[in-house]
Amino acid sequence: MNIDDIRTVCVVGAGNMGHQISLHLALYGYRTLCTDISEAALEKAGVFARSYLKGRVEKGKLTEDKAAEALGNLRFTSDLQEAVGSADYVIEAAVEKINVKRELFAELDRFAPEHAILATNSSFIVSSRIADFTNRPDKVVNLHFFNPALVMKLVEVVQGPHVSDETCALSIELCRKIDKVPVHIRKEVDGFLLNRILWAIKREAQWLYDMGVASFEDIDKACVYGLGHPMGPFRLEDLTGIDLNYILAMEKFKKTGNQADLPSPSLVERYVKGEYGEKTGKGWYEYKK
Ligand code: 3HC
Repeated sequence: MNIDDIRTVCVVGAGNMGHQISLHLALYGYRTLCTDISEAALEKAGVFARSYLKGRVEKGKLTEDKAAEALGNLRFTSDLQEAVGSADYVIEAAVEKINVKRELFAELDRFAPEHAILATNSSFIVSSRIADFTNRPDKVVNLHFFNPALVMKLVEVVQGPHVSDETCALSIELCRKIDKVPVHIRKEVDGFLLNRILWAIKREAQWLYDMGVASFEDIDKACVYGLGHPMGPFRLEDLTGIDLNYILAMEKFKKTGNQADLPSPSLVERYVKGEYGEKTGKGWYEYKK
């Protein structure tokens, strides 16, 4: 397959990441089908796309024609078979549960054209744990976007041992086509590249907070005003989701057995209360709707 043969992309999952990944692809001229089992999630993604594009036009960042073209490129459907049936490239951004992903990839493999690449946007599940559930392991790859996906330029392309050079090269090229900055990760490693770095910062920040050294607000301020980070680690957890951060920590603990990897009690407390951050209106901080 050649990069120009990739014209139709299917994004599976219209949640935190999927709704923005699909809109971004549509903005760059790809016929994009976004699918989810939840009609409500698809509805929400559609509302977001329309209001985001309208906002871009009002801000003078996009012409009306380009906004209309992007909307025209984007379709939402809860029918997985229909969404995937004509896709040249599939990006899965569904829940972070290995068994769900395995079942899903088996289905994607059944429904997608033979040439299609099947990528996962998982934050921590390496594609070799999913690839065996398909008949095309060489075409199953990690393509990891960052939140908010419409804004953050980085995409990690992780080449596990089963991933062909062609799949990897096409994935990198696709990222460039949509104005992202891909980094090629040559080995499957827990947390890939950036989440490992982020992990180190977050663990230190959490320890300082738990020890009562400073408030989480002040720790965030230190990172913003001392390091020039766009937001501090606690504010970032609210953006990426307390739920996702809890799951990430639990997964890490399961692998290492190291008590230091367990989610801190203050994170667990918020997780149990359903205070997941921006998306629920409350996490470390409070958010107006
Ligand atoms: N969705 C889409 N666009 C958004 C957005 C959102 N949620 N939030 C902000 N933007 C856009 C704005 O429209 C604006 O665009 P413009 O400049 O072209 O008009 C631009 O981003 C800047 O927005 P603001 O001026 O409102 O706000 P900030 O300057 O504070 O930027 C931010 C917001 C881009 C979120 C910035 O704070 C940031 O970069 N934060 C760090 C994000 C980060 O670290 N992400 C990685 C998380 S780790 C991850 O995702 C991995 C996963 O596995 C856990």
